[in-house]
Amino acid sequence: MVIRQQQPAAGRGRRRSAVGRACSAALLATAVLCTPSIHPAAVPPAAIERTAGWTVPAAPSQDDDDSTSESTQTPNPLVLDSGGQVEDVQSWEQQRRPELLEAFQEHVYGQSLPTPEEVTFDDGGASGESAKTVTISVTGPAGTASFTLRLFVPETGTPTGTFLLIDHRGSVGDDADSSSGYAPTAKILDAGYAFAALNAEEVAPDDAGSYRDGVINAFYPAGQDLPSDAGRTISAWAWGASRAMDYLETDPDIDPSKVAVIGHSRGGKAALWAGAQDTRFPVVISNNSGSTGAKLARRDDSGESIAAITEQFPHWFPDTYSRYAGNAGSLPVDQNQLLALIAPGRVVVGSATDDGNADPQGEFLSYLGAAPAYELYGLGDTGLTSDSWPPTENEAFRGPGMSYHLRAGSHGLEETDWDMYLAGELFER
Ligand code: GCU
Repeated sequence: MVIRQQQPAAGRGRRRSAVGRACSAALLATAVLCTPSIHPAAVPPAAIERTAGWTVPAAPSQDDDDSTSESTQTPNPLVLDSGGQVEDVQSWEQQRRPELLEAFQEHVYGQSLPTPEEVTFDDGGASGESAKTVTISVTGPAGTASFTLRLFVPETGTPTGTFLLIDHRGSVGDDADSSSGYAPTAKILDAGYAFAALNAEEVAPDDAGSYRDGVINAFYPAGQDLPSDAGRTISAWAWGASRAMDYLETDPDIDPSKVAVIGHSRGGKAALWAGAQDTRFPVVISNNSGSTGAKLARRDDSGESIAAITEQFPHWFPDTYSRYAGNAGSLPVDQNQLLALIAPGRVVVGSATDDGNADPQGEFLSYLGAAPAYELYGLGDTGLTSDSWPPTENEAFRGPGMSYHLRAGSHGLEETDWDMYLAGELFER
């Protein structure tokens, strides 16, 4: 079946629609048996309605009023550029959130590609089947580009939710039985979830010489330099995740109000940027995303610096970002504010103890530094038992809107990480 649609703009409504369904007792039992310890939720999980009439709690308690909290050195997400303090959801959503998004576009990830003139989804006649390969084609003023989304749906009834992986390794094939630690298709299906994998290499090749050859050249004429603030690979992948979401909204097997966008490492950077911009994702998972992902930029001396990442991967970010090489302190934003943009959707940060390049402590501090935005929605409990570094390894910490774990070991998206995500009741409060 081919579906052709004029592209609607990503709306803000989705994250406010009803989310949640109680996890089955069987799944919970499996979680206890097969995963590392799960820290009990600070708030018992409950299906929750996110309606326009969301109760606004008291303003978050702040240790100080200026824009930097002394304990973590993270810029307060709730201080407006004008210096005013955000005290409620309305001023967050109408003033501060747009201000932050614009700053991340201008200084970090670049301007996103515009809405395509046309999008088509071709599932090759596999509609209704439990495994399908969907070709998503997007048309812009300079041409048409296509990329692949693979979708697997469990045969055991309605999925509990869907994990949408920004697969920068292009490693997910057609076979539901082929599994790896990075993309354990069978395990995800067995847990009752659907699994969608976006072939990021097709969206934008991860290569300095050819990164424009996917979707970017459908919007910018090949041969002309991109504007210095145009998004590059990471931005294109995030944009591709939103186009995948456009498809998922049309698939009758999928509940689009329960889609978690997930990425590992460079894919995690893109997942966070997708979730910050596109409020249709109720859950956003960063696995070991590190520099220009979950890690605080102001810890430029820990792990990968802005200079290192922009030199080694010149095709990931706009030129405007490289100007902060060696000068992270002058960035007008920091990555805890990126995590804050996901509120009230669930932000999930997975780190690894020996992942020095990603600076797990910087990811932890960023996670803590996002909490004030969640607090506006009454979701500020991080689930952690202490704000001190390091937290207990291999334990999942879960609040009503934020989840965290620190896996023992090195850089990777591994079975232990998936155990945390699959047992984490991520679509519940
Ligand atoms: C490199 C890069 C990181 C990135 C990682 C990955 O190590 O420096 O920023 O996250 O690759 O994608 O695995």
